Amino acid sequence: MRKKVIAGNWKMNLNLSDSIKLVSQIKNGLSENDNVDVIVCPPFTSLETVYTLVKDSPVKLGAQNVHFEKSGAFTGEISTEMLKSVGCEYAIVGHSERRTIFNESDETINKKNKAVLTDGLKLIFCVGETLDEREKGITQKVIETQIKGGLAGINENDLKNIIIAYEPVWAIGTGKTASPEQAQEIHKFIRSLIEKLYSASASNDLVIQYGGSVKPNNAVELLSQEDIDGALVGGACLDSASFLEIIKAAY
Ligand code: PGA
Repeated sequence: MRKKVIAGNWKMNLNLSDSIKLVSQIKNGLSENDNVDVIVCPPFTSLETVYTLVKDSPVKLGAQNVHFEKSGAFTGEISTEMLKSVGCEYAIVGHSERRTIFNESDETINKKNKAVLTDGLKLIFCVGETLDEREKGITQKVIETQIKGGLAGINENDLKNIIIAYEPVWAIGTGKTASPEQAQEIHKFIRSLIEKLYSASASNDLVIQYGGSVKPNNAVELLSQEDIDGALVGGACLDSASFLEIIKAAY
């Protein structure tokens, strides 16, 4: 049985005091449950403080981005070591906003994925097609290219520290969710691709999250699909009641 994982991607939202407020509400609203892991991914500026609030709780900490170099003249960037030093356990890599707004290629994402895993963090690796790609009927091809590119040179041993998040770009922040059937189809495809690239047991153990307008009113249906093992939540994770309801939907 794969454990469900619900992660909140706060994106570029919430200053320090609002971060403290949100994470305190999440922490206080959680009921004990061993079947679900909860991860919050605040902006860099709130990581350290949020860590002090969650470190004795079941809530885990993740970063929204990371650079692949260890240190040096990379103005504005943050390394894996820096993330670990403030209590981060996870890093999100390959989010469609990074791919499109910040021009991150599969090659860059691959370097980041490798740095995250080599340096002992866990990875939330995002993939997803645009509306144009879906309408052209090339969704699976796009996902396959992103996965092969992002995981190039990464061996099976590291897969246990990887979550793949399937996030159709057309569903992110748009209020349009993939139907549970559309999402399940691609999750199943990703699992079979991992079996082909690695092994049946690696594919069976892999946690695959869905992301893209996950809300309390669609979470139960999405999370009840066979190959959907969790959610990467954007907009709805900024409201503690909504995020807690999504977490409950995974129980
Ligand atoms: P959304 O974002 O829930 O606001 O659609 C999801 C994401 O970008 O991870």
